Amino acid sequence: MSLSSVARFAVPVLFGALLSPAVADDTFSIAQAEYDQALALSPDLENGRRTYLTCAVCHRPEGWGTVDGAYPQIAGQSRTVIVKQLADIRARNRDNPLMYPFSLPRILGGPQQIADVAAYVAQLPMTAHNGQGPGVDLELGGQLYVEHCASCHGARGEGNAAERIPAVAGQHYPYTMRQFDAIREGRRNNADPQMLKQTHGFIAREQAAILDYASRLPVPPEKLAAEGWMNPDFPADLRGPMDFPPLPPMPRMPLAPPGMLEMPPPPALPAYPASPPEP
Ligand code: HEC
Ligand code: HEC
Repeated sequence: MSLSSVARFAVPVLFGALLSPAVADDTFSIAQAEYDQALALSPDLENGRRTYLTCAVCHRPEGWGTVDGAYPQIAGQSRTVIVKQLADIRARNRDNPLMYPFSLPRILGGPQQIADVAAYVAQLPMTAHNGQGPGVDLELGGQLYVEHCASCHGARGEGNAAERIPAVAGQHYPYTMRQFDAIREGRRNNADPQMLKQTHGFIAREQAAILDYASRLPVPPEKLAAEGWMNPDFPADLRGPMDFPPLPPMPRMPLAPPGMLEMPPPPALPAYPASPPEP
């Protein structure tokens, strides 16, 4: 091992150890700077469509994700929220090991591509057939939602684009349950401090009730896809390799006895994969 290769290895490790609190803070500033840059650019929808080809493998050609909540519905989400999440994920200000490699500049591109793909995703029509909760506690859920969440996420779950607050109407219930847990437990560290505060102080039954209610808030008609709509930007030959069989609808959950709605502890996050070799 030459001296220079030792130095190349040891110096970042040493500085990394010395500076780690500063580095952790920095993920926030890096993401914020990229957010500001991307938002100042005019998006190019055609380039956004091309960029979205990478995303479609997971978020599906329509951007509807999967009803089991493994992949969120991103169609129709506001541009500011999408840009913020992309900037956060690649700055590692939001932990998302699965999507992380696809968010890197080498694959996704710079702030212009972020602006483009976000504008493309934001204009995709949404599905109303999102994953919903068991439907057993909607009155309680509605009361708590209005009292604690509507001021930010909107009475109709429409979010707030200017404040980068995500729309929750149309989002998959298992996804919002996971995010709520992740925010509370500090695994989703990009969340607003006010949002973090909201995740404390609910018992499991209340959390499930609120998010079930939110999952049933109707998608605004102007954002809704026509029944049977398929994204024409993905003709059959493009869909071929990524088209999984249609997902079965979520089974109706039976009325749960007390205690049944307690959530099991969330599974451990997968480790970050090794970065792909330079071309
Ligand atoms: C390998 C699969 C994969 C690919 C490819 C992928 N994503 Fe994701 N994405 C995910 C997963 C999984 C999540 C949710 C992670 C979690 O549970 O915290 C996510 C979350 C998101 C979110 C946050 C949604 C929200 O409401 O919180 C946005 C926005 C997003 N992805 C956009 C994109 C875009 C745009 C692309 C293409 C450039 C892309 N994703 C590519 C898997 C992927
Ligand atoms: C003070 C404003 C505020 C309040 C009140 C608030 N939130 Fe949020 N919430 C946010 C912001 C901002 C984010 C996005 C954080 C980020 O950038 O990742 C968020 C994110 C979320 C997410 C993740 C959504 C996604 O697409 O990834 C869920 C789920 C959520 N909030 C549910 C709730 C619920 C349920 C309540 C009421 C109990 C609530 N929030 C109250 C501001 C708020």
